[in-house]
Amino acid sequence: MNPDNDRKRLIEAAFPLKQASLDSVHEKNVRHGHISTLHIWPARRPLAACRAALIATLLPDPGNKAERDQILEKLGGRVVEVVKKKKLPSGKVEETVVPETVGGILHWGRESGPDLEWFRKKIREAYGGRAPRVLDPFAGGGAIPLEAMRLGCEVTAIDINPVAWFILKCTLEYPQKLAGQHRPLPDFALQSPEFMEQFFKGTGKLTRKQLERNLKAVQERLFPASDVGLAWHVRAWGWWVLQRAKADLEKFYPVVDGKPTVAYLWARTVKCKNCRATIPLLKTKWLCKRDNKRVLLTATPNEDRGGVVFGIQNDVPQVGGNAAQRREHDKKIGQGTMSRSGASCPCCNGAITTMEELRAEGIAGRLETVLTAVVVDGFDGKEYRLPTQQEEKGATGAQQHLEHVFGDVPFGVPTEPLPSKEALGFRVPLYGINQWSKLFAPRQLLALGTIVRHVRKSWENLGALGYSPQWAEAIISSLGCSVARLADYSSTVCLRALSEFLCHTFTRFALPITWDFVEGNPIGQTSGNYAGALDWVARYIEHATDGLAKSIPPTVLNQSAKKDSVAGLDLVLTDPPYYDAIPYSDLMYFFYVWHRRTLYGLTPEYTKAFEPDAPPTWDHEGEDGELIDDSSRFGGDAAKSKQVYEDGMFRSFQACYGALRQEGRLVVVFANKQPEAWEALVSAIIRAGFVVDGSWPIQTERETRMRAYASAALASSVWLVCKKRPEAARPGWDNTVLNEMMERIQVRLREFWDAGIRGPDFVWAATGPALEVYSKHPVVKKANAPGEVMNVSEFLRHVRRIVVDFVVGQVISHGEAQQTTGGLDDLTTYYILHRYDFGLGEAPIGACILYAISCGLTDRELTDRFDLLTRIGGCDAAEEMDREETSDDSEEEGSSSGSKVKLKTWTQRHRKTLGLEADGRPAPLIDQIHRLMHLWKAGDVVKVDEYLDGRALRRNSLFAQLLQALIELSPAGSEERAILESLSNHVAARGVAYEDKQIPLVGD
Ligand SMILES: C[S@@+](CC[C@H](N)C(=O)[O-])C[C@H]1O[C@@H](n2cnc3c(N)ncnc32)[C@H](O)[C@@H]1O
Repeated sequence: MNPDNDRKRLIEAAFPLKQASLDSVHEKNVRHGHISTLHIWPARRPLAACRAALIATLLPDPGNKAERDQILEKLGGRVVEVVKKKKLPSGKVEETVVPETVGGILHWGRESGPDLEWFRKKIREAYGGRAPRVLDPFAGGGAIPLEAMRLGCEVTAIDINPVAWFILKCTLEYPQKLAGQHRPLPDFALQSPEFMEQFFKGTGKLTRKQLERNLKAVQERLFPASDVGLAWHVRAWGWWVLQRAKADLEKFYPVVDGKPTVAYLWARTVKCKNCRATIPLLKTKWLCKRDNKRVLLTATPNEDRGGVVFGIQNDVPQVGGNAAQRREHDKKIGQGTMSRSGASCPCCNGAITTMEELRAEGIAGRLETVLTAVVVDGFDGKEYRLPTQQEEKGATGAQQHLEHVFGDVPFGVPTEPLPSKEALGFRVPLYGINQWSKLFAPRQLLALGTIVRHVRKSWENLGALGYSPQWAEAIISSLGCSVARLADYSSTVCLRALSEFLCHTFTRFALPITWDFVEGNPIGQTSGNYAGALDWVARYIEHATDGLAKSIPPTVLNQSAKKDSVAGLDLVLTDPPYYDAIPYSDLMYFFYVWHRRTLYGLTPEYTKAFEPDAPPTWDHEGEDGELIDDSSRFGGDAAKSKQVYEDGMFRSFQACYGALRQEGRLVVVFANKQPEAWEALVSAIIRAGFVVDGSWPIQTERETRMRAYASAALASSVWLVCKKRPEAARPGWDNTVLNEMMERIQVRLREFWDAGIRGPDFVWAATGPALEVYSKHPVVKKANAPGEVMNVSEFLRHVRRIVVDFVVGQVISHGEAQQTTGGLDDLTTYYILHRYDFGLGEAPIGACILYAISCGLTDRELTDRFDLLTRIGGCDAAEEMDREETSDDSEEEGSSSGSKVKLKTWTQRHRKTLGLEADGRPAPLIDQIHRLMHLWKAGDVVKVDEYLDGRALRRNSLFAQLLQALIELSPAGSEERAILESLSNHVAARGVAYEDKQIPLVGD
């Protein structure tokens, strides 16, 4: 793009918001070949959202609606409504209408093809025929750089965390380098009928006959060694590793009665503080609870009542006349020994060992484990049985082999210390799990160590078989990813869903304690095994080598975003860490310990990255490190931690400013839970020299998604668009800035409204354009207060108020108001916004906080002072995790999660002071109406009239409009609507004398 031709970018004018949101949410269901299956990295942004934001920022705005709409449709497609059918357990078919996109290049599977090529061409043209230079300084799992590469950009991806850096190399660098390169499969693979069968099945649709013919050719060594790409070489070497691991490990996973083992089920145990019996700590006794399969673990006191004897009850009958009774019965019989208060002893009538005592026992190293049941692959699905003696011995016997297996693995058994118990999201250290090795059962360590050992051995063989260093590094690194995947499925934090699925360690980004856990069979055939891990990795590689075939090699750097390292950039698009949302370094230390064992010493880069005992957190001397607001890194000093985080973000934005060309753009993604925190980061962006001129809230998460750590992740994230402020920019004055903002924002609000943007999205979409007027000045001074400046929060308060007044104006004028109609009090404005968007049902707290702030209120005021909202569920991070530790039915956990609020109905609002003036201030209009409704329902028209006249409500046009709006918002046929209508009629019939002072009660 020509510096003199600093045209508006598409994203500064329009964005396919609905399409990007729909396709981002859809992507969460995608598995095969998706970036997320290569390696866990918390909070990866959906590719659809990244692709849309990159394209819309790299392309200029065409300047006219017709062309703009054409590009938007090519990008996002159209939104259509489709009917989805779902069969319910009752057999009934439920139909729902859902929006979906048709066309465009955002939906998973539509990312390649002629339209993508069109965009690549247009992007190049926009930059005078060269590839634009793009940086993501907080690149994490690599979603943004991957998409930038797909679009033909010259990409730099930076992350301070060595695990992220390693993932970036595997995600971006190796697939790009080896895209389109092929070489023959190694002999050991060609000569293995088992591997070749997998190969033939995976590479083409063959008839049984063709398959047999090919396999015969393999056996006779006649099969021609055809050339294949990286993914099949990774599969081949993974298979090589697996064969060796199987030979070493088979004896630890015995097959009993010809039925292969799927998983071992364990419980931690504690000695009862009362009778010293061994209590198995069980969250639930249900082993499987499905409609057609109900299996229970029984645990009855043994003869001397020193512990329990386990048993398996198959075909557990359903008891109860209706669904609620059956649920209640199931809950009762499935109740484990754990509850919120602690562990109850089955041997001495339920004496409770409290959570605090459990922690003390854990710290003293006295929490043990017991094998409760074994899941095997039966003839007709999974079966449950008690462990054999040999299995019990095998499990614990693994311990004595660890030293040998880890003997030639760098750094040996992973005894590195876990982060402290104060670290964000870490609960396991509270129970004595203070080294990484303690997070794994002995046999899990043995299996992981064995696989690591053979992966390292494959390195020597790769060289010997003539692979170039480039190929060898790509293969070994991919095998490293498969080790990480296996580790994720092999810790004692892994739970098992009652629907028989094995859950992995990081189902959410925290390390909570688990009481009963599952150990998969890494050399078996079912989920959580090594073969599966390998396949997921290979599928990503297949997808990436295709997608990146025309891309330019990326630069992947392991360093801090605060450092100046690149220059001449056209775009920085990044998703920075967000305050205390995710403690990346501490959590991903879990993988770091395995990567250093797998990769250390293989290449100079890997040796350097994995040399330190732990990934970097904060270097107090160098004042650099991971940017996260975690006071435990600053001796518990919360203020210092916040300040260091905010300063670090400011310095990173400054580095972006320095690296960007004058006409370049910065796009920053924020999770939007707390507007004040968001505002602090926006201030940092402005201070660093940027003008903020666009903001789009893209929905990126399924609403029903498992709760994220500290509930900080919301359904949408705001993508903020910024450009460099000219150095000659002068300070502004608050009154002129506000006037200009008011003038300009009305046009944009109308555009956003007409484009169908609604709800909190509307507020976020308006924020960016409004900020442009403010942030084009390095500072905005207050005209009437010399020496004082108007900060971002103050400015945004004005903006949000204008925005919400606009919305309320549309609601109460049936969309006819051309612009903002102010005048309603704060509480009433909030009420209308909330009622319009969420009705009387559950509403997400994040959106409500945003609305509250926009109305100059807090959520606390709404619940406590004004008695307008009730909270449903929700708690802080620590409480949430304790609930996880003690909740007794994992199936039920999902439904109660998250912080929600509900608007109180008028009948629930019956404080004596409702609708009365307080401290000389008039009561909010909504309170006045609710009071009137109570008076009306009580049938006392004299009081109604007195109230109306005492406040001149009959002459208040806003009051009449509000009444009408409330009538329309209330359900037809409801008592609420009937009373509101009666009141409205009564007000309209002004001057009419009422003979009958007693009004019949509505609904009587
Ligand atoms: C929200 S994540 C990025 C996720 C990424 N967009 C994705 O899709 O996977 C933020 C990243 O910032 C990294 N980070 C934190 N402090 C950093 C620093 N000082 N310099 C560079 N990266 C840092 C973290 O390691 C983390 O990967």
